[in-house]
Amino acid sequence: MKLHHNPASPYVRKVRIALAETGLADRVELLPAAGHPTDPGTMPIGVNPLGKLPTLEREDGPALYDSRVICRYVDDRAGGKLYPAAPKLWETLTLEATADGILDAAVLMVYEARSRPEEKRDADWLEGQWAKIARAIDMLESRWMAYLRGPFDMAHAAVACALGYLDFRHSTRDWRSGHPELTAWYDAILARDSVAATMPEG
Ligand code: BEZ
Repeated sequence: MKLHHNPASPYVRKVRIALAETGLADRVELLPAAGHPTDPGTMPIGVNPLGKLPTLEREDGPALYDSRVICRYVDDRAGGKLYPAAPKLWETLTLEATADGILDAAVLMVYEARSRPEEKRDADWLEGQWAKIARAIDMLESRWMAYLRGPFDMAHAAVACALGYLDFRHSTRDWRSGHPELTAWYDAILARDSVAATMPEG
């Protein structure tokens, strides 16, 4: 299999953690990709019309995208270690979606800063994105800690990627403030091999 990736992408990181946790990392070749809406560069537009990362080219069918689809596929190939059966599955998917929503807002903030000079940035829009993240972090602390202290699954991986991305690109926002339990959980999960081996770069 071939994974189109970028070492800074938190969505790619989710897939890399899934591959490491399922023992499938050796079956995947990493293909570096970079581009922009105005210049797709080396993004995988030949196999994914959206040209987005991660995209997984596989032997048994057309390319797969996005991270949630690829993670489910990887897990299915490995015999189902990272997603529990229903009804717990609905919690897992909701927590994964919460983490991905943090990422969506955090990445949009980065793109806004990269694509516009400071005087043209929309401060209200940026704060609106951060407000989504802040509410989600509050909910992780108030509602999800019992789940997060349970057995590792794809939702744990997604939350680790989301918090890691906030440290990587939004460190001045200090997500840890007022969230002692989530902070302790995150500090502990950083020692997990799959998490430690995939820290964002770039
Ligand atoms: C980043 O550089 O922050 C980034 C790169 C790829 C996807 C998302 C974010």
